[in-house]
Amino acid sequence: MRFSDTIPIPSREAQTHSAQLVERIREAIIANHGQISFRQFMHMALYEPQLGYYVAGLNKFGASGDFVTAPEISALFSQCLAQQCAQILSDLGGGSILELGAGSGRMATDLLLHLQNQQQLPEHYYILELSPDLRARQQALLKAQLPNFFEHIHWLDHLPETPLQGVIVANEVLDAMPVELFSLVDGERVTRYVQWQHEQFCFDAAPSNYTSEYNPALSAWMASLAESLAVGAILLIDYGYEAADYYHPDRNQGTLICHYQHRVHDNPLIYPGLQDITASVDFSAVAKAGLEAGLTLAGYTNQAAFLASCGLEALFMQALNNAPEQQYALAQQVRTLCLPSEMGERFKVMGFTKAFTSSLDGFRLSDRRHCL
Ligand SMILES: C[S@@+](CC[C@H](N)C(=O)[O-])C[C@H]1O[C@@H](n2cnc3c(N)ncnc32)[C@H](O)[C@@H]1O
Repeated sequence: MRFSDTIPIPSREAQTHSAQLVERIREAIIANHGQISFRQFMHMALYEPQLGYYVAGLNKFGASGDFVTAPEISALFSQCLAQQCAQILSDLGGGSILELGAGSGRMATDLLLHLQNQQQLPEHYYILELSPDLRARQQALLKAQLPNFFEHIHWLDHLPETPLQGVIVANEVLDAMPVELFSLVDGERVTRYVQWQHEQFCFDAAPSNYTSEYNPALSAWMASLAESLAVGAILLIDYGYEAADYYHPDRNQGTLICHYQHRVHDNPLIYPGLQDITASVDFSAVAKAGLEAGLTLAGYTNQAAFLASCGLEALFMQALNNAPEQQYALAQQVRTLCLPSEMGERFKVMGFTKAFTSSLDGFRLSDRRHCL
């Protein structure tokens, strides 16, 4: 990952917005005797009501935002995922889909349009969305694109109380969950804290040259997903590594990065509320948490192999037939999704099942569960 040398200066309006959040975080630090854990800082920076990055109404996704996710790059991504969902729903004899953290609503739209074309629409499509602003955007897009199915799309404030038959999907949700930062001191993990000094946020001093992070909410989150699923599968897509790679001594600065207007840098303490803060996913920990929650680990591979297993080539040829003038653009999209130097290797797909015995098509060509 190449970090940017310069980060754009936010507009006056954006600075005013951020200043309000700075004040709120500063108050939390004062109330907590001078410091808060990095996890609390990250939680407030991303999810503080009205002000946090994912909660406030800033445009985050796509060319005019801060970063681009796979569904924003190409409809082919969501079509491949739709193929996997169709296999599961067909084997189950019907069911619903629940998407967590649906962003702009692009993935839901392209996934449902594909299932509609295949006459394999789910009974319901649920979206659990924490951000009121994103929820409104998703509703506008889905209403315009799928008017006949719109009444079957439901927005949730929390996971469903009645366990679902079908598929739970989450693209780039795990990486947006607040992490605890730690330094290794004499082999022990020492939690890192954020303080307010000289009119800015700073880290507490840590006498260590190894810093990394972990997601303390992971086990509880996986357990709640497992409880929300009666029968079917869970598909988690994100960038990350297996534990041995994640916590390798050479990766001594962890994986935490920030996105601001398509610049990538490593200072999470600036621009609270304006920039994305994210950590890669430890997929060994996700697998362990899923197994402890009673799920079956059904497959693990990289994004390129998953998309190929779901029929990317045929979908690409079909898209080309429908729009030959798009040949260059479509080929470019496939490269971005699949090349190892782009998203193909760094992004992984992990599948869990519950009371479901069929193999998942997406892991047909490659399954790296043995690496976890
Ligand atoms: C990087 S965005 C990805 C959005 C979208 N899935 C995409 O691929 O474009 C992360 C999303 O995860 C959501 N999120 C974070 N924690 C969540 C949780 N515990 N449950 C549901 N959504 C969550 C955020 O609100 C945000 O919408």
